[in-house]
Amino acid sequence: MKALVTGGAGFIGSNLVRQLLEDRHRVTVLDNLMSGYRSNLDSLSDACFIEGDIRDEAAVARAIEGCEVVFHLAASVGNKRSIDNALLDADINVMGTIKVLEAARKAGVRKIVASSSAGIFGELKTLPIREDHPVEPDTPYGSSKLCMEKECLAYAKLYDIEAVCLRYFNVYGPNQRFDAYGNVIPIFVFKMLRGEPLTIFGDGEQTRDFINVRDVVQANVKAAMSRGVSGAFNAGSGGRITINKLVDLIRDVSRLEPLVEYGPPRAGDVRHSLADISAARDAFGFQPTISLEQGMAEYMAWAKEEAVRTVDV
Ligand SMILES: NC(=O)c1ccc[n+]([C@@H]2O[C@H](COP(=O)([O-])OP(=O)(O)OC[C@H]3O[C@@H](n4cnc5c(N)ncnc54)[C@H](O)[C@@H]3O)[C@@H](O)[C@H]2O)c1
Repeated sequence: MKALVTGGAGFIGSNLVRQLLEDRHRVTVLDNLMSGYRSNLDSLSDACFIEGDIRDEAAVARAIEGCEVVFHLAASVGNKRSIDNALLDADINVMGTIKVLEAARKAGVRKIVASSSAGIFGELKTLPIREDHPVEPDTPYGSSKLCMEKECLAYAKLYDIEAVCLRYFNVYGPNQRFDAYGNVIPIFVFKMLRGEPLTIFGDGEQTRDFINVRDVVQANVKAAMSRGVSGAFNAGSGGRITINKLVDLIRDVSRLEPLVEYGPPRAGDVRHSLADISAARDAFGFQPTISLEQGMAEYMAWAKEEAVRTVDV
């Protein structure tokens, strides 16, 4: 098939592009490099790269031509960025998504697989989180991702296009750099490699569901291949770990001793997070395969090379 990956130069997008090329699909990437890296695609030259903005209708129309599937990952990513710049967040995540949907409809795309976030849920009322958990986002980012989902699903009702929205929990893996909008794993790993102290916000007993990027890629590919499936689905590992235990795990895989400081809890952070992933398993066979131990060992190896390659980490 021919596929468009918006945001394909980013962390998750570039891992997805790699898998799609390995599976012998034809891939176009549309990315304005706002937070992505051209170098993420250096070894993926079979993908056609278009530097452009999803809010630019002409650029999207050009990129989407002939595509059967659109993987829509381009976004202004993260709670902090959205609190700092709520207008940009909404412009890219809501208006940008509608421009992609309009282009997809006009181009006869069969399916859009859109990247949503567990941030749509807000503070948890029940654990694990099922798809029907109340959606009360705590940040503009959570709200814009929820709006993005609703737009995708409305298009699936109105037009001859299927839409799957994947609500990622905390994704980690290669190509996730230190600047990844406050994500705890890259921050801790790169700080440890630099011998800097790690700051845990709150008491460290808050929990997160960390999912390896390869499993997120698997969810995207399986969702795209499914027929007659539209809806919003959780994409987590189905397991959780406290931040204190995460630090222990990073110490074990890096064999470096961390310096840990505790700071006040951060605005917009939820206390606990854990995905119920049975809906995605039942709908399109999603099944995470990478344990946190294995994934962290792989990530640490990548981060060590990256730290050597770059001066600015
Ligand atoms: N990493 C996570 O833990 C996580 C969790 C939940 C949801 N997500 C979602 O997954 C998707 C990918 O996130 P990521 O972690 O790879 O982040 P990322 O910042 O590495 O990727 C986003 C990509 O979108 C591109 N982009 C931003 N605005 C654009 C625009 N207007 N036009 C074209 N391209 C644009 C960026 O340059 C970047 O390459 C995003 O939609 C994000 O909201 C990520």
